[in-house]
Amino acid sequence: MHRIAVIPGDGTGPEVVAEGLKVLKAVSGKFKFKYQLEYYGLGGELYLKTKEILPDSVLDELKQMDAIYLGAIGHPEVKPGILEKGILLKIRFELDQYINLRPVKLYPGVETPLKDKRAEDIDFVVVRENTEGAYAGVGGLIKKGTPDEIAIQEAIHTRKGVERCLRFAFEYCRKRNQKNKVTLCGKTNVLTYAFDLWERAFYEVGKEFEDIETDYAHVDAVCMWMVKNPEWFDVIVTDNLFGDIITDLGAMIQGGLGIAAGGNIHPAGVSMFEPIGGSAPKYTGMGVVSPLAAISACQMMLDHLGEKEAAQNIEKAIMKIVKEDVKSLSAGKMGYSTSEVGDLVAKYIIEK
Ligand code: IPM
Ligand code: MN
Repeated sequence: MHRIAVIPGDGTGPEVVAEGLKVLKAVSGKFKFKYQLEYYGLGGELYLKTKEILPDSVLDELKQMDAIYLGAIGHPEVKPGILEKGILLKIRFELDQYINLRPVKLYPGVETPLKDKRAEDIDFVVVRENTEGAYAGVGGLIKKGTPDEIAIQEAIHTRKGVERCLRFAFEYCRKRNQKNKVTLCGKTNVLTYAFDLWERAFYEVGKEFEDIETDYAHVDAVCMWMVKNPEWFDVIVTDNLFGDIITDLGAMIQGGLGIAAGGNIHPAGVSMFEPIGGSAPKYTGMGVVSPLAAISACQMMLDHLGEKEAAQNIEKAIMKIVKEDVKSLSAGKMGYSTSEVGDLVAKYIIEK
């Protein structure tokens, strides 16, 4: 029995999560596994009504789950940062989900701006450190609002935090067994302290993995090559902020936020899976956004929970639907509504 916490969240989150749960029901029937859902109404609406963000009691309950399935966090009427830090980053940090795993994979039939690339050229994974770096929240403002004000925002890189992230990347690369190459994405030419630590740890940990090639690139060059030569990459490992930025670029080259999913992972703890796009307030309630990113997050969650066959089946269904059914993954251009796309995935799983 898998106990899954569901946080539909804000904006289009609830719409796409509903489709993921539809697919979960379909695969669980077919592959005979059981699960139990606990819903949590966290997000902008709750905050505006009660000022509650993430009560400690809820956090304690989340820690008892087998996985968390999240839609999106962020509300147009709430000042940016309150919900993002108070819910999303708080869960990532409190549950020590130290890896943010984001596959970048182009499925045949999906439109990407890199039209001359074939689907097999775009298939890599970004392993983003998820609890430190610039996200650690260390710093402050003095003389705020005056002409003399100063803001300091430090980035924290601990040997332990960096090393466990690197080790995850190498192990993941070995399991993936594709190009067997890990690229460290850094900025050793400017961030000479932080990435000195990252680089030394990278080559040290790399020695434990003789079958895996080690490779280094500066973050700006990574951005260039993700577009020009995405086929060079297999596993990219990087810090929290660079990982945030390059995975939005990754989402675009794989066809957009309508298909890009990610996992916030603690390999031995409670992990959380989410579509990587935001809450898309302007499309909320219209039934026009693609649920495939949320469905793909459900696939990652089942893979993580050990339901490998069910996960593979979801991916097969997604691949069929992007190739043969939906016209585009852009909001309002799918040729179907959000829930019709969920129905297509569920139907394929039940029938095939
Ligand atoms: C992401 C998001 C978050 C981040 C925001 C919402 C705090 O952009 O999951 O990539 O920066 O990590
Ligand atoms: Mn982001």
